[in-house]
Amino acid sequence: MWKNLTHKGVAGGAASGKTTVCDLIIQQLHDQRVVLVNQDSFYHNLTEEELKQVHDYNFDHPDAFDTEQLLCVMEKLRHGQAVDIPNYDLKSYKNNVFPARRVNPSDVILLEGILIFHDQRVRDLMNMKIFVDTDADVRLARRIRRDTVEKSRDIGTVLDQYSKFVKPAFDDFILPTKKYADIIIPRGGDNHVAIDLIVQHIRTKLGQHDLCKIYPNLYVIHSTFQI
Ligand code: ADP
Ligand code: C5P
Repeated sequence: MWKNLTHKGVAGGAASGKTTVCDLIIQQLHDQRVVLVNQDSFYHNLTEEELKQVHDYNFDHPDAFDTEQLLCVMEKLRHGQAVDIPNYDLKSYKNNVFPARRVNPSDVILLEGILIFHDQRVRDLMNMKIFVDTDADVRLARRIRRDTVEKSRDIGTVLDQYSKFVKPAFDDFILPTKKYADIIIPRGGDNHVAIDLIVQHIRTKLGQHDLCKIYPNLYVIHSTFQI
């Protein structure tokens, strides 16, 4: 049986504008069923020991995420099941903030996160991979503003984390995944042309599925268009 689902992955450095790009896509697809899944929701909970030395914890390393749980959630959505996604609180470093977010299966599933192209199994779930490419100085400036204002962190801590973990992880793990992208968006949410094109593409693909519903024999042709 074919599935009228389309999974898009949006990767890029921290504070590059991934969430903003997803929000703009969702706004433009207002008449479609779209859900956003954030890789942040799948951060491992820290042990008491790790919590005591939280400034030495690398939140930008692939091992910081529970990728098995992420895969399980995406698999369920793919099979039309609703899922409960953990709520992650960046301030308390806990991912069991209740209530969990209930996500219903939708026509378009956007998965956003710094390292969603790192694991091949996650990459293989996506039929469009987007990399938001924003200059490092812009990302750092936004991060300083966000982490000091929204997370109440002091600027020294933000800069230490950036030089110790964020920048090295970007160079070692995130930037190398840019090669997997189908589309690279410079300037993130400011790039209205790129966002319009992505939305147009999604609409075209969803339209093809509508055709499949009317002419079931088209299934063979369009069966490649699924996760
Ligand atoms: P990411 O999901 O990659 O971490 P966000 O979309 O959450 O990035 O953006 C990070 C921060 O930068 C947020 O505070 C957001 O409001 C701000 N931001 C994002 N895009 C822009 C933009 N084009 N211009 C100005 N600020 C932006
Ligand atoms: O939303 P964004 O993609 O920017 O989120 C990823 C960033 O959040 C990472 O660079 C990581 O360092 C940061 N983070 C953090 N504290 C946490 C969890 C993640 O600073 N508890």
